[in-house]
Amino acid sequence: MLQPGKNAELAIERVECQRLTLADRAFVAIGDINADAAKAVATQLGEKSAVGVVCDVRVWLQQLNLFEAAIASSPKKQIDIVIANAGLGGANDSIMVEEDPDQIPSEPDLKVIDVNLRGTVYTTKLATHYFKRLRKQDPSSDGCLILKGSTAGYIDWPRSRQYPATKAAIRDLMKCMRHTSLEQGTRVNVVAPA
Ligand SMILES: NC(=O)c1ccc[n+]([C@@H]2O[C@H](COP(=O)([O-])OP(=O)(O)OC[C@H]3O[C@@H](n4cnc5c(N)ncnc54)[C@H](O)[C@@H]3O)[C@@H](O)[C@H]2O)c1
Repeated sequence: MLQPGKNAELAIERVECQRLTLADRAFVAIGDINADAAKAVATQLGEKSAVGVVCDVRVWLQQLNLFEAAIASSPKKQIDIVIANAGLGGANDSIMVEEDPDQIPSEPDLKVIDVNLRGTVYTTKLATHYFKRLRKQDPSSDGCLILKGSTAGYIDWPRSRQYPATKAAIRDLMKCMRHTSLEQGTRVNVVAPA
């Protein structure tokens, strides 16, 4: 199950979908706030290999629906791998907007935190839940959760505030989980593109 990226047509994630469906014969459920993009990738992969579902990762019920749709559509009726990919970039951070220091400051727009962090935390809870179900059905199973970080989560990133904060938080989320998650049937790691 995956949330796609870069125009949902050319991204690494599309290649990842292709690898999963072709080499590993996986069924992929693709969730994105852009329904057309999710469905376009699913159509390219073929209806026997993928389904596209509209999902705003900031909304719990939409993520729950995505996971349920993944189970309902997949031939094995289970989820083995979850990739939390949806993310907003750090340009024009609303915290950094230039304002007259003599005036009342405006309330910042925190959608980068909502998408990158709230969305990833929801995905993490749901992935852990469905991996536990998988482990109950098959004690030898271990679900794989891949969180999407960034080098911005490791190094100083003076151009932005919310984006590097979310990516550092995602890295810490993985670090907190990795000590105990295996007992519950979850392998977890972060991929951090440059
Ligand atoms: N491209 C890079 O160089 C790079 C570098 C470091 C990290 N990353 C991370 O990789 C991931 C993908 O990056 P990308 O460059 O492909 O980004 P992108 O902007 O091309 O794709 C992001 C995807 O997230 C979707 N999305 C946005 N808001 C959403 C929401 N509320 N709910 C569901 N989907 C939503 C968009 O529709 C889009 O398909 C992100 O988490 C990003 O932070 C990318």
